[in-house]
Amino acid sequence: MSKIVITGGAGFIASHLTDFLVQAYPNSEFIIIDRMSYAARREYLSQALRRPNVRFIQTSITNRRAMERLLRGTDIVIHAAAESHVDNSYRDVRPFLRSNVDGTVSLLQASVTCGVGMFVHVSTDEVYGDCRDGDATEHSALNPTNPYSASKAAAEMFVKCYAQSYGLATRVTRANNIYGERQFPEKLIPKLIVDGLTGGTFQIHGKGTAMRPFLHVQDFCRAMMTVLEKGENGAVYNVPAMREFSVSEVVDLVCTALGRKREDFVTNGPDRPHNDSRYGVTGHQISALGWTPQRKLAEDLYGIVDWYRDNLHLFVREPASITRLHPRLVAPFTQLRRVASFAQQGT
Ligand SMILES: NC(=O)c1ccc[n+]([C@@H]2O[C@H](COP(=O)([O-])OP(=O)(O)OC[C@H]3O[C@@H](n4cnc5c(N)ncnc54)[C@H](O)[C@@H]3O)[C@@H](O)[C@H]2O)c1
Repeated sequence: MSKIVITGGAGFIASHLTDFLVQAYPNSEFIIIDRMSYAARREYLSQALRRPNVRFIQTSITNRRAMERLLRGTDIVIHAAAESHVDNSYRDVRPFLRSNVDGTVSLLQASVTCGVGMFVHVSTDEVYGDCRDGDATEHSALNPTNPYSASKAAAEMFVKCYAQSYGLATRVTRANNIYGERQFPEKLIPKLIVDGLTGGTFQIHGKGTAMRPFLHVQDFCRAMMTVLEKGENGAVYNVPAMREFSVSEVVDLVCTALGRKREDFVTNGPDRPHNDSRYGVTGHQISALGWTPQRKLAEDLYGIVDWYRDNLHLFVREPASITRLHPRLVAPFTQLRRVASFAQQGT
């Protein structure tokens, strides 16, 4: 029986990965690590934790002693824990340095000390920076343009260095924007949905012309399994979405799925200090392993809206004014108050 450690497992992507992998590998032992930041929810792990072979440990990956204890006897580490929101990184970069850089180094060091068999690092297409002149290949230079992507690129440099210096078997994924249920409502799609459901207003960054490809989280889970089973040590795999959209197009699609008029609650606001005009990656390496994206954003959005409607209690604490609600959409809630004033949307 193999032992698999997943970091960031109470967050959006890694909770889906956990659900996916515990089904795929029912005879493996799973340790899920998360420090439970604002983006994490224990509820996301409730199904996986019903299994006797899955354990959850609440701790930070920056805790080197804990990492060395937890990684003993581990075959595979899937490292997805990170501070993940670009706008937050502009406000204060320090948590990004702590979790994304120091945390990754702490995990790499523990992996070497414990003789971990494979270290899979979940990185992002944002490390390439603006791709307005064409799609980035896995060999393109890293050119991060915001503090979040700089911290992810720095983390990748340490992954590379631990592979070289200590012979750690590493694999890296660089996926496009990922969407699906459980994403914290600070990112474009879930923020727009939650604002639309709770009577909030939504500001687009600038004119909404930035182009973003969107990959469904289940497509990403299949990509991860492909990398685990068929990937090569030392390799990097881009994980591209089927197609790209302008932010403005995504807003229209979400409004359609919500059944709300865009002009009733969406406006254009100030842009970020820098906003990459486009992300685009080639996917030849992962498609050579047999993986292709299957899901379509426009079709998926209806189910995602339903999930947020059914799970608003995860993001709102207590009733505010009924007048703020869109009655057709959130019938069971008489009043709602938002837990936090969510930051502007990010992509
Ligand atoms: N969301 C996307 O579009 C996207 C695309 C490509 C890659 N990624 C990468 O995927 C990974 C997961 O992103 P996400 O969207 O699920 O983010 P998320 O913010 O929903 O989840 C991240 C999780 O990591 C945990 N975490 C943060 N710091 C930690 C620490 N020091 N110790 C332990 N746990 C910690 C948080 O509590 C949270 O549960 C990140 O590495 C991100 O860079 C995200």
